[in-house]
Amino acid sequence: MIIYRARVFDTPTSPFAGGTLRAEADVALVVDRGLIVSRTAFATARSAHPDAEVIDLRDGVLIPGLVDTHVHYPQVRAIGHLGRPLLEWLDRCALPEEARLADADYAKALAADFLRGLTAAGTTSAMVFGSHFASAMDALFQQAAEVGLRITSGLVTSDRNLPEPLLTTVERSVAESQDLIDRWHGRGRLRFAVTPRFSYSAGQELLAAGGALLAENPGIFVTSHLNENRDEIAGVSALFPEAHDYLDTYDRAGLLGRRTILAHNVHPGERELTRLGESGAAVAHCSTSNSTLASGFFPLRRHIEHGVRVALGSDVGAGTGFSLLKEGVQAYFMQQLDPSGGVALTPAHLLHLATAAGAQALELDAEVGDLSVGKRFDAAYIEPTPGEPLAVGIRHAGSDEDALAKIFAMGTPGDIARVWVDGELVKG
Ligand code: GUN
Ligand code: ZN
Repeated sequence: MIIYRARVFDTPTSPFAGGTLRAEADVALVVDRGLIVSRTAFATARSAHPDAEVIDLRDGVLIPGLVDTHVHYPQVRAIGHLGRPLLEWLDRCALPEEARLADADYAKALAADFLRGLTAAGTTSAMVFGSHFASAMDALFQQAAEVGLRITSGLVTSDRNLPEPLLTTVERSVAESQDLIDRWHGRGRLRFAVTPRFSYSAGQELLAAGGALLAENPGIFVTSHLNENRDEIAGVSALFPEAHDYLDTYDRAGLLGRRTILAHNVHPGERELTRLGESGAAVAHCSTSNSTLASGFFPLRRHIEHGVRVALGSDVGAGTGFSLLKEGVQAYFMQQLDPSGGVALTPAHLLHLATAAGAQALELDAEVGDLSVGKRFDAAYIEPTPGEPLAVGIRHAGSDEDALAKIFAMGTPGDIARVWVDGELVKG
């Protein structure tokens, strides 16, 4: 039993549905084997559990562990190539690096770099876009199990329009995926996701084979890309003349449902938004990536109007790093600047998008996403160095919302002093 005495910010009710920031200046979270069993005044917790260890976190701010709904494991060393649109960036920057994961030793080193990036940024759960190589997926799952993060990921599949070493066949993709599912799905905090790279590089039969895997393996997820870039969309339209639109290429293959997370959707049609809303699929909004690749302004307002679930993704390596604080403030910037009229995002919206919304998209919201009684203790403790601008800003903030705004505006992984998953320390 541990009592965490802290200033806690979370969003148990969505600010998109009338909720506000829940901020408590001095609250005790009583954690028993990873489970938050009580949330109360410190004196009450102390007298109920006189022998419990007390961890005093009142010098900073405790928030729920961050949830990244779109982040590419093979691209950790490819972050920071600027100045190219999607298809050129893939050819020149991302795919040559992804081919290197054919070497299992290279993949092992990369998996370590990748998982360190996540934990350092305070990310405790993620939908991880995997590798085209099954051996590289073993390296990721193995190390993720050791670190303890909640990782959903799968073998990336493609059978056209990519460099030859990254291509597979329908038969091979099914055999390798099923083998990974059998060995990793449901083991500890790990789950499997069917992952066609995008319809631009995956034919109808390959997509349908993913749909069959989904039907045969209850509880697995789906992730891919959608409507990111106009050239990509035109390419998909030419490759799938019979499909209504880009989303329909996944829908026809049986890949659309509540366990589906599709990244980007910067240029959706009305039919696609309606179908996303109906199906319960979630969209990962990757704001720094949308800026880096000049993909466009994410139409958040239209997603909300159609009841589409949205959360944040870092989209490393087109995104500029693992920090969901940065993704949050960039989402804010782009909504502010969108000439077609963005949503005025408050700090509470940003926290919600970076935590509870992601937990919902990953169907982890019964366990994590906020710091209520009954949830597992996944948390990030923000404690900037005293005297640094963020520490000064938090100290002099006029309100809790103001303090949270400063955390998003100025916070970096360097300000995240400690991170827990299920009550276990994974950083600090
Ligand atoms: N579409 C297909 N692959 C990728 C990728 O690696 N990054 C992004 N941003 N979009 C993609
Ligand atoms: Zn991506």
